Amino acid sequence: MYRDELYRQYDFSGRTIAITGGAGALGSEMACALAGLGANIAVLDRAAEQGEQIVQRILSAGAAGRPLFVQTDVLDRASLSAADALIRRELGPVDSLINAAGAG
Ligand SMILES: NC(=O)c1ccc[n+]([C@@H]2O[C@H](COP(=O)([O-])OP(=O)(O)OC[C@H]3O[C@@H](n4cnc5c(N)ncnc54)[C@H](O)[C@@H]3O)[C@@H](O)[C@H]2O)c1
Repeated sequence: MYRDELYRQYDFSGRTIAITGGAGALGSEMACALAGLGANIAVLDRAAEQGEQIVQRILSAGAAGRPLFVQTDVLDRASLSAADALIRRELGPVDSLINAAGAG
């Protein structure tokens, strides 16, 4: 009974989570963990190479959730709007946002 409830609470299947700074130290670990729990993950970061590496890491792990890298500058409103449009098209509307962009 408790185990079923725990699984239910940590089942993110069908959810879309956007993570700014998703290519960074903290954001990438959350991206991988949440993808493993079934969430579709939008990795938003201005670092393209690292962002694509996180997508590959999620795919290689065989995570249930679908990853998408979106090169984004979170300080630029137009960049954020473009990211939102792309995420909606590819993964659906964002259910949750984790902000991890910043200076590490
Ligand atoms: N790592 C820690 O122990 C720790 C502790 C307390 C607070 N923090 C804070 O948490 C945040 C994340 O930490 P981290 O260790 O993952 O840092 P990190 O440097 O590893 O990752 C930060 C990511 O944010 C991205 N980024 C920076 N500016 C951006 C912008 N304008 N648009 C898009 N992406 C941008 C970078 O490219 C990088 O991938 C930072 O603000 C840091 O100060 C970290």
